[in-house]
Amino acid sequence: MRAIAVSTFRAEPALVEIPKPDPRPGQVRVRIEYASLNPLDGQLADGSLDGPAPQAFPLVVGVDYAGRVDMIGSGDNRFRVGDHVFGRTGGPAAGAGTYCDYVCVPQDSAITLVPRGLDARIAAALPSAGMAAAQILDAVSPRGHESLVVVGAAGGVGSCLTQLAKARDVRVIAAVRGDERSRMGSLGAVVTIDVTDGPAADAVRAACPDGVDALADLASATSEEFAAHAATLRPGALALSTRGVAAGAPLPDGVRGVDFRLDPSPVLLDVLAAGAADGVLRVPIDSELPLEKAPQALERNRIGGARGKTVIVLREHGRC
Ligand SMILES: NC(=O)c1ccc[n+]([C@@H]2O[C@H](COP(=O)([O-])OP(=O)(O)OC[C@H]3O[C@@H](n4cnc5c(N)ncnc54)[C@H](OP(=O)(O)O)[C@@H]3O)[C@@H](O)[C@H]2O)c1
Repeated sequence: MRAIAVSTFRAEPALVEIPKPDPRPGQVRVRIEYASLNPLDGQLADGSLDGPAPQAFPLVVGVDYAGRVDMIGSGDNRFRVGDHVFGRTGGPAAGAGTYCDYVCVPQDSAITLVPRGLDARIAAALPSAGMAAAQILDAVSPRGHESLVVVGAAGGVGSCLTQLAKARDVRVIAAVRGDERSRMGSLGAVVTIDVTDGPAADAVRAACPDGVDALADLASATSEEFAAHAATLRPGALALSTRGVAAGAPLPDGVRGVDFRLDPSPVLLDVLAAGAADGVLRVPIDSELPLEKAPQALERNRIGGARGKTVIVLREHGRC
């Protein structure tokens, strides 16, 4: 089968031919129609999981997918051959990358049926970004009605988080690169700040002089950048990083730092998919590309500039 894989960590991802996997007991094999790109994909190919986790090369890139169950391993199973499914795999380290024609996943992992009315491309774009957004919102704003600064709000996680927060009456201050006021406003942000105009913290203080209740920082790569955003928070606030820079960051008195870690679940996928099928949750698609263009898409994601998800097309839904 075709796959985009790296031959060793930090090698360039390339199109290769590898054997089609067979499902083990308790697994299903999915014939992938669409995969979606997450920043994690490039990070994993760069060796961010190098260390204790088992690795086998070539390492197939990607975690999100939508497709059809085409084979079922022995044992109990909740799926049937032909089911239209989507989900998030355990990833390349588990031998389950998704930039390829077939992937085998445990039937009790984050995999579920694509609901009626949900486009398969959107289903493929939803898992990582949607589940992260929902779990981040639960962490930073459990009661709703708070104010929340989202740094990196124009990306995959941020676009979903802004909408889910708005639905919970959370006032989102979106910090983005470039003039995204119209787009972020349509997703539910009450204030949009262009970080290229000057220090974002100054603009946040101008918008919220009494301080902000929570921070979801999806962009800062250093503790210092993260701390600069957290300086706008009031005592008792929570400051969350998706990039692992909260621990050890110099935070204001009374502000608690949290490093977020996604906990994928099929139940959460069902909830998000229902919202997307109803049109309550919009998952913006920036571009669709054939599999062989995925290496360029990974490179482009490192540089930035996308405004929505990149979908990799293995085969159009319903076609052989
Ligand atoms: N820990 C976890 O479990 C977990 C789960 C999900 C995601 N994540 C991480 O969370 C991050 C965001 O994920 P994503 O899927 O939303 O990525 P994405 O779709 O690539 O979006 C990232 C967004 O951040 C923006 N950005 C970058 N630097 C910025 C800055 N200094 N100020 C404001 N905006 C900035 C980007 O704008 P430009 O395109 O203009 O650069 C882009 O809009 C990634 O690093 C991802 O690995 C972690």
